Amino acid sequence: MNIWTFEHEHDLNATGAGIIAALLQSKRKAVLGLATGSSPVGIYKELIQMYNKGLVSFAQASSFNLDEYVGLPEDHPQSYRSFMNEQLFNHIDMNMDHTHVPNGNASDLAAECVHYEQLVNDHGPVDIQLLGIGHNGHIGFNEPGASLTSGTHVVDLKEETRKANARFFDSPTDVPKQAMTMGVGSILKAKQILLVARGEDKADIIRTALTGPITTECPASLLQCHPNVIVLLDRGAGRLM
Ligand code: F6R
Repeated sequence: MNIWTFEHEHDLNATGAGIIAALLQSKRKAVLGLATGSSPVGIYKELIQMYNKGLVSFAQASSFNLDEYVGLPEDHPQSYRSFMNEQLFNHIDMNMDHTHVPNGNASDLAAECVHYEQLVNDHGPVDIQLLGIGHNGHIGFNEPGASLTSGTHVVDLKEETRKANARFFDSPTDVPKQAMTMGVGSILKAKQILLVARGEDKADIIRTALTGPITTECPASLLQCHPNVIVLLDRGAGRLM
């Protein structure tokens, strides 16, 4: 595991974007595993700038997002599909048909999970999987106790996760109670993992996940079993490392 802590946000973002851009420059049909939340946003902004300068193209690439809320239509402002369109896809030359976000509004959620897992497997393996980490160690929406081998599935969100995400909704009660997420098993199949964490409030869980015991009680600790993980931390999140 390669852990880098940055003094300046810009350096973290430029490093993350640089890793993804280097992949796209050497493999135009790269398969990107993408995340939402606040952690990747600076990296997406940097990638958009690189695209605008003609340094990188996404035209041949495809992407798979980790997760989506259950019950929100695609065009809901807080859906992860809307987030990805606004934060990245609308600003680059990615073919929208090659971008994939689980459909949390499907009438048959179980069938959608099977379908999404199959799609990832058919296109995969994912070349780079971008990840954030929850305060309880979740990756994707794999909450503590998640199965090590799980594929895409529906989860009940923990109250702490709903509270953490309430900042994006008008009212805390609007946060969906369930989500569809790629499993830990699906995530670990990626060739490379890029974990990003920012802020002092992530320092404890970063230390636990990266240096503590490997346990499904802290899903991010399972990343210790992956052979190719890069961790990008700002000063706050890296404070205890
Ligand atoms: C989002 C996701 C989540 C977030 C995590 C951290 O697609 O899979 O696991 O990465 O909740 O969220 P932020 O980055 O907002 O602190």
